[in-house]
Amino acid sequence: MTSTRTSIHGQWSSRWVFILAATGSAVGLGNIWRFPYLTGENGGGAFVLVYLFCVVMMGIPIMMAEILLGRRGRKNPINTMHTLAIEEGLSPNWRLLGWLGVIAGFIILSYYSVIAGWTIAFIFKTGMGDFVGSNADQTTAIFSELISNPKILLFWHTFFMFLTIYIVSRGVKSGLEQAVKFLMPALFILLLVMVGYAMSTERFLDGLKYLFVPDFGVLANKNLFSDVFLPALGQAFFSLSIGMGAIMIYGSYLSKDSSITFNSFVIALADTGVAILAGIAIFPIVFTYGLEPSGGPGLIFVSLPIAFGQMPLGTFFGCLFFILLMFAAWTSSISLLEPAVTWMVENRKMTRYRAAYIAGFIAWLLGLLTVLSFNHWAFKFSFAGKTYENGLFDIFDVLTANIMLPLGGVLIAIFTSWLMSRSSTIDELGLSDSIAYKIWRFIIRYVAPLGVVVIFFNAIGLFS
Ligand code: TRP
Repeated sequence: MTSTRTSIHGQWSSRWVFILAATGSAVGLGNIWRFPYLTGENGGGAFVLVYLFCVVMMGIPIMMAEILLGRRGRKNPINTMHTLAIEEGLSPNWRLLGWLGVIAGFIILSYYSVIAGWTIAFIFKTGMGDFVGSNADQTTAIFSELISNPKILLFWHTFFMFLTIYIVSRGVKSGLEQAVKFLMPALFILLLVMVGYAMSTERFLDGLKYLFVPDFGVLANKNLFSDVFLPALGQAFFSLSIGMGAIMIYGSYLSKDSSITFNSFVIALADTGVAILAGIAIFPIVFTYGLEPSGGPGLIFVSLPIAFGQMPLGTFFGCLFFILLMFAAWTSSISLLEPAVTWMVENRKMTRYRAAYIAGFIAWLLGLLTVLSFNHWAFKFSFAGKTYENGLFDIFDVLTANIMLPLGGVLIAIFTSWLMSRSSTIDELGLSDSIAYKIWRFIIRYVAPLGVVVIFFNAIGLFS
């Protein structure tokens, strides 16, 4: 049965705007900050390989499912799940899946904004030439000084959250198109410049090898599931913005004649491409200048500035790089706030303006815990066999990326492939009952849910 619903929040002005907006959501700190540091912490090439596997076998199919649900429901994730569940004769409690996403969105946004704040601080540091001629010790000292100062972190966190609220309060569609059309290609080109610099460093090939050749020696004293598979799975979900309703809400603004399959592949390709480029730019610098690949969340902030301090026009490129990274983070953060805001508008009859400020304020408040995680409240803890250094920040990060997003993803997969009628999904994907549809259905029914479950339970040691 074809659905003819429309969203009260409007529609994208063309199919390209959806691709731009969803790519804007996907490409962000996840690709340039999170991907390299997780790769460095979790064993390099093997991590990258598993990550790519997760993107193809779970990420893309679940992204398709999530867009499909959004476009069919045409509401915020909570109401979409509620409406579709009733339509398919299922329990209205499926709306809890929407809630899981809204809550995950708040938690991710709360720390995302703090890290985005680091990039803003770095716009000024690079722009003022702080890194000219500096070595690894000096960049490390500059970074440590920044994160040990909660007042400065708070300032930029507040600033960035305000930027996010501002766009969401005006409706994510205005402005986003221009921002993504010019800034994304610019970021891409600048990453290529950085790759160019990386090629000129002594240990370029070591960097490449580290990224693309799994080193089984490194894996010997690691637990494959908890150290490699689970973080890689979490990173695939995080980077593609799936599992929490962000892509679902963007899908709810998508016109009926746009191909979900094509769109999902384009978005995933762009997203993965940026992450890999970031890796190629960073690891040769890490090795050439004697940094530790496992340096943690500060990795790009201590490695890239060395390059900016050495290369010609480095001050200019460095400043521009962090500006573009801030914009990439901005087009991502708005998609984290949007599901909660649309819910408040639809169900609490608030104006978009008011809803954006209230929801943004809650996320800002929660972000204070992350601000303190790197200084006054820093502590270590272990989960699923791994030790984490940065207290609450790591707890939020692991809880969302490694638990809530995969859980959301599995439930989305189960809902679309086991519970929704076949005809509804065929209709929505527009693939008719073709080979492509059958492949998707097989993956989303069996491979994706089983993959997530097996990885998750092995990682927390349930099967060992
Ligand atoms: N994907 C974004 C990044 O890589 C972050 C992000 C935006 C996100 N929206 C999301 C992550 C929804 C998970 C779910 O930076």
